[in-house]
Amino acid sequence: MKKADKIAYDKDYAAAKKDGKPFFPYAIYKDTIIAGLAILAVIVLAITVRVNIGEPVNPATTDFVPRPEWYFYFAFELLKIFKNQNALTPVIMATFMVPNILIILLVIWPFIDRGPERRIWKRPFGLALAVIVTGMLCYLTYIGASTPEGVAKGDGIPVSGLEGASAAGAALFLANGCTSCHMVKGVGAAGPGPDLTNFGAKGWDNAKMIKWLQAPIAPMPSYASLPPKDLDDLATFVNGLGTKYK
Ligand code: HEC
Repeated sequence: MKKADKIAYDKDYAAAKKDGKPFFPYAIYKDTIIAGLAILAVIVLAITVRVNIGEPVNPATTDFVPRPEWYFYFAFELLKIFKNQNALTPVIMATFMVPNILIILLVIWPFIDRGPERRIWKRPFGLALAVIVTGMLCYLTYIGASTPEGVAKGDGIPVSGLEGASAAGAALFLANGCTSCHMVKGVGAAGPGPDLTNFGAKGWDNAKMIKWLQAPIAPMPSYASLPPKDLDDLATFVNGLGTKYK
């Protein structure tokens, strides 16, 4: 800060202080009233507004698509930005790296920005940063809120030509955790099950696949509890991998 600026600033500060009110009791008194009102509002809302708690939990469901609360949509979207072949990278980046870097920046910001200036329009960099970060949060929240639920078309499995039964099968492939043991075109786990990218070349028909899904060899779990249509859709999808759906 230049010397003239500092003198002007000190003068401003002294003038403002002369007209000001003491912290105690004035500011404390105001804070207490506002905090009390806020708590009262929460209590009144808790008593008067009924929330819908939804269906009872069904641990056996396979088509439930978990969605975060709206205030976590931005983090939910961040996860998708860090889409990766390995399942851990997006989680580490979006739930640990990015939020913690931002929080650490927030904590050390007073040590980086040493200027005594408080007036917001005199701090274009800080102002711009605040607008950008808030804007990004709003944008990511909006995108998260407007993404269609679920993976109805098998989004996430990078094969083309999926439609109807095969698209439903791809969604079931994801929803039933097949990717936790099998890989399709780089998506999913490298083991213990075989890579199914070119499974279609084996020429299985749907009946054979359904039989396998109902009674596979361990450690692959049985999918005998799935509805017949789901098994058929899964079979259509897996049997066409590498041939119809590449
Ligand atoms: C817990 C891990 C696991 C899960 C989950 C799993 N599989 Fe498997 N899968 C395996 C293993 C291991 C094999 C190899 C079994 C063998 O041949 O000994 C296999 C084999 C297969 C085969 C090949 C059979 C063959 O003879 O070539 C197909 C097709 C298959 N799985 C489809 C699926 C589908 C579809 C799903 C989801 C509905 C699924 N798997 C879920 C572990 C798994």
